[in-house]
Amino acid sequence: MMNGHTKLAGVIGWPVSHSRSPMLHNHWCRVHEVNGVYVPLPVAPGQLETALKGLAAAGFAGVNVTIPHKEEAFRLCDELTETARRAGAANTLRFVEGRILGDCTDGTGFCDNLQAHQVTLGGNALILGAGGAARAVAAALQERGCEVFIANRTRERAENLVQALGAGHVLAWEEWSDRLGEMNLLVNATSLGMGGRRDVPWEEMLCRGKEPLAVADIVYTPRQTPLLQAAQERGFKTVDGLGMLIYQARAGFHAWFGTLPEADEVSFDLLAKDLAI
Ligand code: ATR
Repeated sequence: MMNGHTKLAGVIGWPVSHSRSPMLHNHWCRVHEVNGVYVPLPVAPGQLETALKGLAAAGFAGVNVTIPHKEEAFRLCDELTETARRAGAANTLRFVEGRILGDCTDGTGFCDNLQAHQVTLGGNALILGAGGAARAVAAALQERGCEVFIANRTRERAENLVQALGAGHVLAWEEWSDRLGEMNLLVNATSLGMGGRRDVPWEEMLCRGKEPLAVADIVYTPRQTPLLQAAQERGFKTVDGLGMLIYQARAGFHAWFGTLPEADEVSFDLLAKDLAI
């Protein structure tokens, strides 16, 4: 029941109709009896600044920002968390006393999900990819004491990423699988495997991996990606990408509505069902 005390938040994107965030946040509002509502906010390119000012003036607690506004959101923030600065992105904004505070919860969500799967963080982590997702994951793993290795098809992007992070190592795309024996964690932060495509002979690539290697994928369509399937067959611990989606949303919910929600089974079921995965 909405009333004068209802807290407001939402997700800004263009288009935004595909976003599952409203379903997830409104589920949490219901189960945690929070007087809040989370709405999809279609904002056209070039309109982000106007929209943010308007939402703040209208009393919104904050918003998530998604494609194509992520980079501009980062620039428009008055203050950034250290995590957002290191990730070079802000996906979760809070409006506080006329100022915009930006955080990036992707990497935190990724790590929280690993920990929920009893993966101990530390040691060597090999990240495949050098895009925005890889950067957020790499920054968060570094903050948690991991030695980060980056392998990317386009080597220059991996070099730029390591430079931006201020630490870490670049591995050639052709040789990462030879170095797998040194790693405690392998993360696919590329789009490889999306839609279940078997674009890489993962079984072969994983042959040098050693226990206790954990293998995580940020791709969640399908939930069991070809990489995770191959890793499971080799007996490695696996973590799928759906949890990252849920855990990255928790931080925003907490910031706007004041309650840290449960990453409960219903949250997973709701998303999995809606994504048909
Ligand atoms: P995001 O910001 O979501 O991470 P992105 O910047 O488009 O998206 O990055 C996609 C990642 O998947 C990149 O690391 C990309 O490698 P390149 O930098 O060489 O483009 C990687 N990727 C996509 N298709 C790939 C493929 N067929 N083989 C290897 N890497 C691939």
